[in-house]
Amino acid sequence: MKAVVITDPGGGPEVLQVKEVDDPEIKDDEVLIRVEASALNLADTSQRKGYYPAPPGCSPYPGLECSGVVEAVGKLVTRWKAGDLVCALLGGGGYAEKVAVPEGQVLPVPANVSLRDAASFPEVACTVWSTVFMSSRLSAGETFLIHGGSSGIGTFAIQIAKYHGIRVFVTAGSDEKLAFCKNLGADVDINYKTEDFVERRNLDCLAYEGRLFIIGFQGGFLTEVNLTGLLLRRLTVQAAGLRYRSYESKAAIVREVEKNVWPAITEGKVKPVVFKYFPLSEAAEAHRLIESSKHIGKILLLP
Ligand SMILES: NC(=O)c1ccc[n+]([C@@H]2O[C@H](COP(=O)([O-])OP(=O)(O)OC[C@H]3O[C@@H](n4cnc5c(N)ncnc54)[C@H](OP(=O)(O)O)[C@@H]3O)[C@@H](O)[C@H]2O)c1
Repeated sequence: MKAVVITDPGGGPEVLQVKEVDDPEIKDDEVLIRVEASALNLADTSQRKGYYPAPPGCSPYPGLECSGVVEAVGKLVTRWKAGDLVCALLGGGGYAEKVAVPEGQVLPVPANVSLRDAASFPEVACTVWSTVFMSSRLSAGETFLIHGGSSGIGTFAIQIAKYHGIRVFVTAGSDEKLAFCKNLGADVDINYKTEDFVERRNLDCLAYEGRLFIIGFQGGFLTEVNLTGLLLRRLTVQAAGLRYRSYESKAAIVREVEKNVWPAITEGKVKPVVFKYFPLSEAAEAHRLIESSKHIGKILLLP
């Protein structure tokens, strides 16, 4: 099959090259998917740069999610069969014509969404649902501040939060991006480049019993904070990454996503936000785009 190979880890986008590689072999509990589309995540650029390798046992090629058609199933797989239209959360390997994935990380393509665009959902849905909803218990009537409102993660988070009756604030770096977020349902928008986002630091703006959930470090890893607010206002600060969770943990998240997020997509209340499609052979161009931050929503690769 063809796959995008990181020919020189640590390099720029040009190190992403389509090569002929061996087809994946499925284990007994795995599903082989013929990929219709894969979506980019910023993590893919970190993998290309050499500091975010695939977890042991996962495909070494980039790509944390895909959609496609089931081509074969292992002998212990019960839910899926050849021909099913699916999308999946991957540990790697989406930038390829085929990928093998544990059956618990596979989801049906939701009604209302094309097979191609279904690739835009698994990573954002599992990240957002497992963090602010499952861990931080975000619930109806609360207020949710999303940084990077126009990102792949942000455009999904706005929609699913509004669906669950939550008031949504967003930050983004341009008025055009903020207008898009408003259109998706955001109640309050803040341009963090032109407005002073508090005094406005993250901990200071939390309510009593507020929760700060960190999923990324776009602004850098190091900071200095005054912790007294945590004690006085009973705040929680938490962080989590999805990629290195166990198969069991990912399967549990995928089940919750199917139960709580898929109905919103099926009802048309949460829509895919796809900025641009690239052929697999232009993976380098797609990486240049995501690194430019000019996009809104997701970028898809088509084998
Ligand atoms: N923990 C996990 O399991 C997990 C899973 C998936 C993604 N993530 C993280 O979630 C974040 C979004 O991922 P994505 O794939 O959706 O990325 P994306 O679509 O590329 O979006 C990244 C966004 O970050 C914004 N940004 C850049 N620098 C910023 C800064 N200093 N302060 C505030 N915003 C900034 C950019 O928009 P502006 O123009 O507004 O700056 C851009 O839209 C990334 O940090 C990623 O690593 C974490």
